[in-house]
Amino acid sequence: MTRHFLDLSDFSGAELRAILRAGEEMKARRRTPEAAGDRLLEGKVVAMVFEQPSLRTRVSFDVGIRELGGSPMMVTGREIELGERETIADTARVLSRYVDAIMIRMLDHDAVVEMAKYASVPVINGLTKRQHPCQVMADVMTFEERKGSIAGKRIAWTGDTNNVLTSWVHAAGRLDFELAIATPEELAPPPALIQWAKKQGAKLSLTTRPEEAVEGADCVITDCWVSMGDDDEGTRHNLLRPYQVDDRLMDRAEKEAIFMHCLPATRGEEVTDEVMDGPHSAVFDEAENRLHAQKGILAWCFGGVPA
Ligand code: CP
Ligand code: NVA
Repeated sequence: MTRHFLDLSDFSGAELRAILRAGEEMKARRRTPEAAGDRLLEGKVVAMVFEQPSLRTRVSFDVGIRELGGSPMMVTGREIELGERETIADTARVLSRYVDAIMIRMLDHDAVVEMAKYASVPVINGLTKRQHPCQVMADVMTFEERKGSIAGKRIAWTGDTNNVLTSWVHAAGRLDFELAIATPEELAPPPALIQWAKKQGAKLSLTTRPEEAVEGADCVITDCWVSMGDDDEGTRHNLLRPYQVDDRLMDRAEKEAIFMHCLPATRGEEVTDEVMDGPHSAVFDEAENRLHAQKGILAWCFGGVPA
């Protein structure tokens, strides 16, 4: 069966752990002679299809594909008029005749699922409006490097309900940690997502008070107030201002808590300079780990991760 990486909830905790371990092992032997054995994509071409802008996803996949011996091919949504010039299904069928895998960033989540349905090569979700699974794999890797196993730890999210938070909720359903979420009522997680998490036995708590969520947290996370595709900037600024991560909020978390943000950050809005550049910040390790986590994901797509 073709191995797609679309959604963390498609995987068991053991599978996610195996992918993370593969990424961590490749990170440890990167730029050593042993890395020669990691060239699982030798002779393969991976199309990177972008409908939306990107720095981290664009560059980390490009470098990761090359380090695994493959060739990345950049395709912008604009040049192929993605979803306009022909159906997504036909785009998937045609791309599958040329390339060995497709990594795609596209706001319409259902279109990405459709792409996977009709592609005969692996499709990797590089962010949709609904989810950002590659990001959260890198986040878990970063947390565990700094703080040990995430199982039993308390992770706090303050801000908007967006793609990154949704993937964090999926991770909470699989990796046995506590996820304390603070959002304004108007931007609270949708009931279906909460029901899913409860059914998985995830330890989730919801509040409108950021101080409550971060109390005793081992990690505090936030993201931009206005995500790609959002058109209600003014309302979001008003609602989300109290959810900013500053030193005062970080002081309520565990003393050695880390701060994470998928980046790009809007400094002075969702997070202050002091926190971004301060002792708790793990944001640049987190950005680096996109590369290592995604090498694990690519390896899994090509059958290179032991079960
Ligand atoms: N975090 C993240 O996905 O960054 P880019 O949008 O720059 O890829
Ligand atoms: N939530 C952000 C993540 C960017 C990487 C967005 O969707 O714009």
